Amino acid sequence: MAKLTLDRILQSQGFGSRKYCRELIEDGEVAVNGEVVTDYRAMPDPDDLTLTLFEEEWRYREHVYIAVNKPSDIECSRKPSHHPGVLSILPEQFSWRDVQPVGRLDHDTTGLLLMSDDGAFIHAQSSPKRHVPKVYLATTAEPVSQALVAQLLGGVQLHDEPAPLAAVRCRQVGEFQIEIVLEQGKYHQVKRMLAAAGNHCSALSRVAIGGLQLEALGLASGQWTYLDAAQLALLVPDQA
Ligand code: URA
Repeated sequence: MAKLTLDRILQSQGFGSRKYCRELIEDGEVAVNGEVVTDYRAMPDPDDLTLTLFEEEWRYREHVYIAVNKPSDIECSRKPSHHPGVLSILPEQFSWRDVQPVGRLDHDTTGLLLMSDDGAFIHAQSSPKRHVPKVYLATTAEPVSQALVAQLLGGVQLHDEPAPLAAVRCRQVGEFQIEIVLEQGKYHQVKRMLAAAGNHCSALSRVAIGGLQLEALGLASGQWTYLDAAQLALLVPDQA
């Protein structure tokens, strides 16, 4: 990896403008692998680099890949209008380094949301050609029946779609709960499919993407974690 000066490194990690990062360094606020460095022209090796700022340690990461257990009443859009945006529940550095959600969950949908500042990853992961299964747990207003499961598996017609949309898998998990696995990510897809099948979605949570299970991440609502290479490898089509 090409070496950068310390001010540029801090900027790349989302600590603020280059000018501000220089000031932090010159004020002795930055330690590199445990040693305070006051020369912003220092070029530490990014492959093995931990920065300490205001008593918090940050490992250098060229890109970040994170999973969030999204709470309700949080918007995924870049310009949230009615509820706080998802970046508001993450460290400020993530906004500075332009971390974005991979696809969207509705403001009232909870559960597994991926976020990254790696454009190629976001693009690949959101591509409909990739067929990454997304597993949703829906609570319904009316009891779940085998007929409902069959309808969702067979395909339901939504108003603005040219052809019926079907779940790739679907099973009843409770009297008012159904697990629905989709490969597409159309607007309000689960809610609209349930409505088209004559039921109503009263609560929705995404519990897995590919083979990455929210439960295995052990995140309470509103918590986030970095994803490691093994976890990222679970995000491929045939891991669910
Ligand atoms: N389907 C929906 O209806 N809403 C979501 O947030 C995700 C899938």
